[in-house]
Amino acid sequence: MALYQATVSAPVNIACIKYWGKRDTKLILPTNSSLSVTLDQDHLRSTTTSRADPSFDKDRLWLNGKEESIEAGGRLATCISELKRLRAVVEAQNPTAPKLSTYSVHIASRNNFPTAAGLASSASGFAALVASLAALYELPANPSQLSVIARQGSGSACRSLFGGFVAWEMGSAPDGSDSLAVEVAPREHWPDIHALICVVSDDKKGTSSTSGMQRTVETSPLLQHRIAQVVPARMDSIKDAILRRDFPTFARITMQDSNQFHAVALDTEPPIFYLNDVSRAIIAIITEYNRAAGAIKAAYTYDAGPNAVIYAPKENIKEIVELLLRYFPQAQPFPDPFALHVDNQGSIPDGF
Ligand code: ADP
Ligand code: DP6
Ligand code: CO
Repeated sequence: MALYQATVSAPVNIACIKYWGKRDTKLILPTNSSLSVTLDQDHLRSTTTSRADPSFDKDRLWLNGKEESIEAGGRLATCISELKRLRAVVEAQNPTAPKLSTYSVHIASRNNFPTAAGLASSASGFAALVASLAALYELPANPSQLSVIARQGSGSACRSLFGGFVAWEMGSAPDGSDSLAVEVAPREHWPDIHALICVVSDDKKGTSSTSGMQRTVETSPLLQHRIAQVVPARMDSIKDAILRRDFPTFARITMQDSNQFHAVALDTEPPIFYLNDVSRAIIAIITEYNRAAGAIKAAYTYDAGPNAVIYAPKENIKEIVELLLRYFPQAQPFPDPFALHVDNQGSIPDGF
């Protein structure tokens, strides 16, 4: 009996220009384009194994060892059925190919970091799911084509199908066919940029990205200003900064955009607070670090949660870690040397 199985890992990506808002909630079409950095494979990642077998009676998914339901018409079901549809095209072109599109699939995935805690597990999770099914089905699709499917699982997932610096172009086609991820520059273009993850809390967040951003779309006037007046120019400027390897410009835009995203969350009714005192303390520490240096040597950014991601040239990482350990002495490396577990007992710097 043949075994039809494939395992793929996908890393998380952390946005510098944030996606926050959908113009179409079913197709997951965003209200603005976004841009992120995909972390290296040995950092935070999801690893997903997909198996097709004629004896399976339905599609099933296990996340971190626990079975999750696959709701009809839901995001998981959409991704799986889109990939089966592409497999059926392969089978039609090649009559000797096994009819995997007619079998149910079992999918098992694990994250090596906290799930649903604002560290982009939906991004690596859906990217790994789509990539593992594409490998199982031997689809001829390129990463941008697969990104259109991953996008329908979780918007941010489309960007994790590329490494390096990645844009999600919002597109304009009503069917979403041009709302996809494109590579801005590969990782090797700027290997000097490193990401330091500061895990402030690994609790599940109170407001999911999906429900939070929908509430923002419905209630925030600031979001309308952001998507029309702010993001388009920032997308152009940050792409240009990446291509020129201009860290101060890259960093300034990244921090501005994180701040505006959290302002938009606060402008939502009722307001959404993703940052906590420790997050704000880390903002103060990085701000003071840059001020004292008279140059921008590090950038903070926060997704929908209190955990900080700090982008900096490699040569600065050691002193940034030492600086953070001074304020949060009980911080533990987690789960690799460039991720820190920051306990919320730390002191807040004076004068902020
Ligand atoms: P996060 O900030 O971690 O992205 P979200 O609220 O956006 O949090 O999404 C969390 C959800 O993403 C989980 O509840 C789960 O439904 C889905 N998810 C996370 N990891 C995986 C995975 N490895 N495979 C499939 N789905 C996943
Ligand atoms: C703050 O992609 O998790 O991380 O599309 O509803 O699944 P859904 O939301 P999700 O939102 C991510 C929001 C963000 C910013 C970003 O990653 O661009
Ligand atoms: Co998410």
